[in-house]
Amino acid sequence: MTQQQHNDQHPRSASLAEPAKALTAQRFSIAPMLDWTDRHCRYFHRLMSRQTLLYTEMVTTGAIIHGKGDYLGYSEQEHPLSLQLGGSNPVDLAHCAKLAQERGYDEINLNVGCPSDRVQNGRFGACLMGEPALVADCVKAMRDVVDIPVTVKTRIGIDDQDSYEFLQAFIEQVRDAGCETFIVHARKAWLSGLSPRENREIPPLDYERVYRVKRDYPELTIALNGGVTTLEDSLNHLARLDGVMMGREAYQNPYILADVDSQLFGQTGAVPSRHQVVHMMLPYIEQELAKGNYLSHVTRHMLGLFQNMPGARAWRRHLSENACKQGAGIQVVLDAMAKVPEYRAEGVV
Ligand SMILES: Cc1cc2nc3c(=O)[nH]c(=O)nc-3n(C[C@H](O)[C@H](O)[C@H](O)COP(=O)(O)O)c2cc1C
Repeated sequence: MTQQQHNDQHPRSASLAEPAKALTAQRFSIAPMLDWTDRHCRYFHRLMSRQTLLYTEMVTTGAIIHGKGDYLGYSEQEHPLSLQLGGSNPVDLAHCAKLAQERGYDEINLNVGCPSDRVQNGRFGACLMGEPALVADCVKAMRDVVDIPVTVKTRIGIDDQDSYEFLQAFIEQVRDAGCETFIVHARKAWLSGLSPRENREIPPLDYERVYRVKRDYPELTIALNGGVTTLEDSLNHLARLDGVMMGREAYQNPYILADVDSQLFGQTGAVPSRHQVVHMMLPYIEQELAKGNYLSHVTRHMLGLFQNMPGARAWRRHLSENACKQGAGIQVVLDAMAKVPEYRAEGVV
């Protein structure tokens, strides 16, 4: 099934295609980030942008199949939502993809970009770039059992295998297995010697290489990831590509999302102010507290909301110091917010 066919059949995704011609769900997304983009974080992000495609943290097939918790849980409000899977066993991936489709996810994404040792031992993540035939088998196995899009997030190369021809061969083999969408982190990964964090900073970004992929394979949906920190940069990339995926900046400065629907999707409509976003989080927080979850597990994702605004430090500090205390409830959030002056001009709902 093509992305367009999927959009036609899934109204939630279809709305993404409405603002302009042929916009795909991939036009703007927030990167999968382990320990960061959990469901609390995604709920919070969704309040600021209806259109952004959200990704789960990477979830391994092993966790889904053998784990005790519900690793596929999410809130309905999070759509459009992609599940990122980590794994390299086609049978297991197909099983998990099917479960994910049944649970209502809008997309399955395979992680072929994470360089951590732990992930390499499990033979998945970035090291899979060296095994395109296996990635193709994985994609095909998933495509055979689901009709939501199966996408791949990858790097531009690994270790000394960093020529354009290497990337091309990878893309072609995986494309032939049925993957129509690639999210390319525009730097290679060193599989040994660098920590995952260093692997997000030290190998140089090469945007031109991603542009070239789009030029050579115009029929594919190509999104770029890595080092994008403004919507202006995003628009520049979108002049050449189908999508931009933003990671760290969106997490650390989440209010950037408030302009995504208007600037990147051409939508008009009211944007909630930062204070309104906090108010919109309160019912969710109460619901989570009632389930026995800790306040800090939700509020840790909100620390950057007032980034670059007067009072940002007081907000962050009050939450950091108090949300983890025994019995902490929404009063902590209200007290933190009271430390930040409200700007009426900021956006009115
Ligand atoms: C804390 C953290 C966790 C991450 N976890 C994942 C992950 O689970 N799966 C994945 O594909 N990439 C993961 N990444 C990489 C990001 O998805 C993204 O590729 C990277 O941060 C580069 O984008 P950026 O420069 O916009 O942050 C992670 C990054 C960070 C900072």
